Amino acid sequence: MHADIVVLPGDGIGPEVTAAAVDVLRAVAARHGHAFRFHTHAIGGAAIDATGEPLPAATLEAARRADAILLGAVGGPKWSDPNARVRPEQGLLAIRKALGLYANLRPVKPHPATLGASPVKPHLLQGVDLVVVRELTGGIYFGDKAREADAASDLCRYSVAEVERVVRVAAGLARARRGRLTSVDKANVLETSRLWRDVATRVVRDEFPDVELEHQLVDSMAMHLIARPRAYDVIVTENMFGDILTDEASMLAGSLGLLPSASLGDGKAGLYEPIHGSAPDIAGRGIANPYAAILSAAMLLRHSLGLHAEAQAVEHAVSQALDDGRLTADIATAGKPTVATRAATDAVIDALQLPSQVMELRD
Ligand code: IPM
Ligand code: MN
Repeated sequence: MHADIVVLPGDGIGPEVTAAAVDVLRAVAARHGHAFRFHTHAIGGAAIDATGEPLPAATLEAARRADAILLGAVGGPKWSDPNARVRPEQGLLAIRKALGLYANLRPVKPHPATLGASPVKPHLLQGVDLVVVRELTGGIYFGDKAREADAASDLCRYSVAEVERVVRVAAGLARARRGRLTSVDKANVLETSRLWRDVATRVVRDEFPDVELEHQLVDSMAMHLIARPRAYDVIVTENMFGDILTDEASMLAGSLGLLPSASLGDGKAGLYEPIHGSAPDIAGRGIANPYAAILSAAMLLRHSLGLHAEAQAVEHAVSQALDDGRLTADIATAGKPTVATRAATDAVIDALQLPSQVMELRD
């Protein structure tokens, strides 16, 4: 198949990890006879430096035309003045909003080789396999903001339609998995959460009667996520709660460097990015963990291009690389050898070529 993929490397380690993911996608294309064209554009701090804007019009136009978008990370100390007129993060928020990417899928499935990298006890991590569906274009992130001399406010607002559509994505995903959906809110305090709970209850009752729905308050969810992570299948929540809970959930996997994400809207096109940030402290050294970006590329193959076998092959290859002990510094146990970005990427590409993988692709 032919596909146009827009690559937005962004800042810090973004260019290093997106380069790794593109290499893996090229290997997939070569092996399976696909033609992927990559178009690189600026976003975030790099775009501010080049054009003065965090999301230049040319980037957004290219993104609108693309079959899928692969993004690295945005932000860094150079642009971190909170009072600056433009900030790198605005580019990310603006592209999510402009493309209507309201459902952000963040799967968490700890790999046996990285259990030691997690601060959570290994016996609690065995069998953990959950997906957080984070609402991505509404809530407090996008409500009116105001700053006065001695006060400030951020409005949190959700419409019924905004809640319905993201709950439908999450419930559909739960139906295809283990049939369990946990909706997270703060309905004991927030009006938006009471609306969220009402809508989630109705949508699941009327449209997904086969899905088991449970409600959790966000504070207790933060606790349960660590205390009994195996109990969860699909978790759906509003924008800011999802942002916070997924950084927490990344510790189940052992590192932020392992978690991919897919941001989806109503069409096939989507934006794929690791959930980690730009890690300016290690940028440019070739040691960043590329697995989250590579796993994001696997999600791209699955959700935007419909290449399910290829997506699975990439996921198997990452798993194989981890099994083989190709651990970057963030996931290696102290004293154990570590690999750099390049070696981790090559390990994935090598594993893609294994005969057993080819067999699986014929399914
Ligand atoms: C994320 C990030 C972003 C967010 C920032 C960089 C704006 O933390 O994707 O989780 O808060 O959504
Ligand atoms: Mn975040």
